[in-house]
Amino acid sequence: MQKLKHVAIIMDGNGRWAKKQGFMERIKGHEVGASVVRDLTIHASNIGLEYLTLYAFSTENWKRPLPEISFLMMLLDKYLQKELALFMENGIRFETIGDLSKLSDTLQKRIQDTKEKTAHFDGLTQVLAINYGSKDEILRAVNKAVECGEKVDEAGFDALLDTQNKPPVDIMIRTGGDHRLSNFLLWQAAYSELFFTDTLWPDFTIKEFDTIVKKFQKVERRFGGIK
Ligand code: FPP
Repeated sequence: MQKLKHVAIIMDGNGRWAKKQGFMERIKGHEVGASVVRDLTIHASNIGLEYLTLYAFSTENWKRPLPEISFLMMLLDKYLQKELALFMENGIRFETIGDLSKLSDTLQKRIQDTKEKTAHFDGLTQVLAINYGSKDEILRAVNKAVECGEKVDEAGFDALLDTQNKPPVDIMIRTGGDHRLSNFLLWQAAYSELFFTDTLWPDFTIKEFDTIVKKFQKVERRFGGIK
């Protein structure tokens, strides 16, 4: 059976979910989506998963209407404020990937505070990708390498990425029906098992997550070799 350490998820379909339910505002989907994040985080912690990385806001999401961006930023702040207790109770470490410098001072402070308060935990690590894009992450890493003036090998490059010290992504899930990676963990997903589901993120369940994990455990991973 495959050892599972790291699951990454593109949580797509919030806007369509809201429309389908008859809500006037797309943001209702994000709000319900945040409660799915909570349920899944508890489950991931209970099954002993090491890393759960979630795409919360991409470098491209700044193209959205300002009220939606503001709502997402407010939701992230509210989420961290509320879920600190959950992290503390369940021994969950909180980390981020992405360029946080473009976020408000208040949100940056909340993120920093949550990281510091949970840094000593060694159960599940929940990683939120905020203002994250793989191309941006890779370019920042390349520029760091150039500044050092030394050639890097694969391990050296890994260490320059936002995901430094995190295991490779075993399972990559995208909800919402599209079959693309949308600038998410392009380097890290080199040998991930990809799972695409039509389920819209707010409808995603623990049961569907477990079905994906079961499928993953049956996959023969060869990493370019032969068995
Ligand atoms: C994509 O759905 C989703 C996002 C851009 C934001 C993801 C945010 C959440 C799931 C909620 C907040 C998360 C946390 C951790 C508090 P979409 O809006 O593009 O959906 P659509 O394709 O149906 O329009």
